[in-house]
Amino acid sequence: STPLRLGIAGLGTVGAGVIKIVQRHARLLEERGGRPVSISAVSARSRGKDRGVRLDDYAWEDDASVLAVRDDIDVFVELIGGEDGPALAATRAAIAAGKDVITANKAMMALHGQDLAEAAEKAGCVIRFEAAVAGGIPVVKALTEGLAGNEVTRVMGVMNGTCNYILTRMESAGLPYAEVFDEARKLGYLEADPTLDVGGIDAGHKLALLASIAFGTKVDFDAIEIEGIERVTIEDIEHAADMGYKVKLLGVAQMTGRGLEQRMSPCLVPDTSPLGQLENAMNMAVLEGDSVGQIVLRGAGAGEGPTASAVMSDVIDLSRGTRVSTFGRPAAGLIQAKPAGASAP
Ligand code: HSE
Repeated sequence: STPLRLGIAGLGTVGAGVIKIVQRHARLLEERGGRPVSISAVSARSRGKDRGVRLDDYAWEDDASVLAVRDDIDVFVELIGGEDGPALAATRAAIAAGKDVITANKAMMALHGQDLAEAAEKAGCVIRFEAAVAGGIPVVKALTEGLAGNEVTRVMGVMNGTCNYILTRMESAGLPYAEVFDEARKLGYLEADPTLDVGGIDAGHKLALLASIAFGTKVDFDAIEIEGIERVTIEDIEHAADMGYKVKLLGVAQMTGRGLEQRMSPCLVPDTSPLGQLENAMNMAVLEGDSVGQIVLRGAGAGEGPTASAVMSDVIDLSRGTRVSTFGRPAAGLIQAKPAGASAP
């Protein structure tokens, strides 16, 4: 059968991880998706760099926007990152050319996702972003499929591993914020702009996406009340511990009489609860539905394997022929794109 042909832009940790899975699991992907998955072309900033993967079989493009519209790709896989710039330009180009898009870009989707989803719908293509929210945790799938029969009443999450690492380490080692922040930097945990992490913005991007999916509302990052962890002191953490609590950077989204309420802030959680037990750089999503009650998902929210795993779940869905985009919109639920043309299996 005809392969699903990917064009991958961005060959950092996640891009390399995706290529490794495509190479290592060719048979498994074909069995699961009903047709082979192939990579036609790749692009990144520097061509010469050793990424620990063989790229010889793939065409090279210097420009992601050129890659995005190549005739020999069905799906543009955007792993560049950044809220606008080349990632957004190339994603727009892909949609304009009628290509389906898979992205791990939380910032771009939180700020431009609504526009992109509407453009994709008009163009008859699909845009999916499982990897943008809580990395390896299949939380988008859990909401859109597993809990599809529920009215979602609340979603909560610890969705920035770096902040969870810092808070956990402050508590266990009794170290002040500034010292643990430096440790996190040395471990390579922090985003290029660390404010995105410790200011709660990165986690806020993910919450905005999660809330939109859970409640079928327009993604509204600006409406989130955000407080980061910069002002959490070791004393705060010790006082909390004395009372049997942990401090976590927790996102909460719930529908109230006044509409959708979204908050991302340091919260006290009982130390015996699943959230309280969440250590190191782990992420957790807590989902509540009117029929299912509460479910808890825990896993790695970043890193090569976990994030690539989430990208591949979207790849396999497209292989299988899904035409459903990952996005809510007011009173309409998921955006359903038109059936694919020539690229359908
Ligand atoms: N900086 C993010 C985190 C990376 O620490 O969770 C994953 O989005």
